[in-house]
Amino acid sequence: MKANPGGSIDPQNVVGRDRLIEQIWNTLEGQSVILTAERRIGKTSVIKKMQAEPRAGSHPVFQDLESVHSPEEFALLVYEKVQNFLGLWKRVANSAQRFLQEHRIEAAGVALEAHGTRHWKGFLERSIEDLTNARGQQQLVFFWDEFPYMLDNIWQREGAKSVGELLDTLRALRQSHPSFRMVLTGSIGLHHILARLKADGYRNAPFNDMLKIEVPPLDLVDAQQLAQRLIEGEQLVCPDMGRATAAIAFLVDGFPYYIHHIVRELKNRRSVVDPDKVLAIIEHFTQDASDPWNLTHYRDRIGDYYPNPEDATAVRLILDTVASHAGPLELSQLMAELQSQTSVLGSRDRVLQLLRMLELDHYITHHGDRSYDFRFSLIERWWRHDRDLSP
Ligand SMILES: Nc1ncnc2c1ncn2[C@@H]1O[C@H](COP(=O)(O)OP(=O)(O)O)[C@@H](O)[C@H]1O
Ligand SMILES: [Mg+2]
Repeated sequence: MKANPGGSIDPQNVVGRDRLIEQIWNTLEGQSVILTAERRIGKTSVIKKMQAEPRAGSHPVFQDLESVHSPEEFALLVYEKVQNFLGLWKRVANSAQRFLQEHRIEAAGVALEAHGTRHWKGFLERSIEDLTNARGQQQLVFFWDEFPYMLDNIWQREGAKSVGELLDTLRALRQSHPSFRMVLTGSIGLHHILARLKADGYRNAPFNDMLKIEVPPLDLVDAQQLAQRLIEGEQLVCPDMGRATAAIAFLVDGFPYYIHHIVRELKNRRSVVDPDKVLAIIEHFTQDASDPWNLTHYRDRIGDYYPNPEDATAVRLILDTVASHAGPLELSQLMAELQSQTSVLGSRDRVLQLLRMLELDHYITHHGDRSYDFRFSLIERWWRHDRDLSP
């Protein structure tokens, strides 16, 4: 197995996800799923593996929605998949095709609009109807990667109303077609889209029938296994495999993307693999201005996630304060330090609200005693450097 940070990896090279995948399949027997996770933690790898190795009776289809900019485009993508799938069953029903005829829409590929009326909703409904009427032995499951990206694109082009309508339509379809299944995932947190919709007056709970499942980092045993397979695959010299892989797994908190990066760099340096070399690489890359590990993303996305400049400033302050502490920080202590620095933060309520969002963003985590810490020590290390803080 070769180091391939960020590349698409073979399903058999996806390490340590078997239990999670089992849990997702089990859940899909009863309901649809939202996979939440930090960017680059391995969501796409998980769903691609599920697609390549489906459970008996399931027919997974993977669709990357990043480049979809309208509900029409989305409805057409779904329609095409359904048509392909129905092909397998010799096209049992074709209500969606009749829909196109009824509305004199010539063929898929054109805008789903006739006489100034948009038809994506009816068309999507008919497609799902066809799908669930087919009732073969196999169940089609949509894996919609970068779903929130699509929502964001639609928002930019058409505004909040279309986004709310699409979410409501999908929820209604899940209600009226109990066998219709989807797995939603993506690198923008859906909680941000929902918060923006709420601020815009949207009152629904479009995901409350779905189960959220978090894709966590690898546990330490699996992270060590990944490190070992990469070290062996790259034929690196490693005098003490146990110590070296433990150091890698521990220093990146089981984050597989950075494990690939570290092994790639060890190879580039033609370095013997030992814990000191690993630490030196981490120190180098968390300080490298050209940022080959894409860590500046953790700075840049704050402005997108928290468009209100006051919120963004408050978030940076909270992260600075947590990062400046070597260990976890209790809420009362956090509040005291924040207040001594500035008045922008305001009330305890506001701080708590931002802390909750920052947890959903995977910047921070809280312990049982309500003390707060960075979720990933590697990100904390980088944040400290980027913000010129000392621990
Ligand atoms: N389970 C895994 N085993 C091995 N490598 C992984 C695993 N998960 C992720 N990776 C590595 O991390 C990179 C990012 O994973 P990806 O699935 O694209 O993350 P996400 O979709 O969450 O952004 C992959 O290109 C691969 O190098
Ligand atoms: Mg992905």
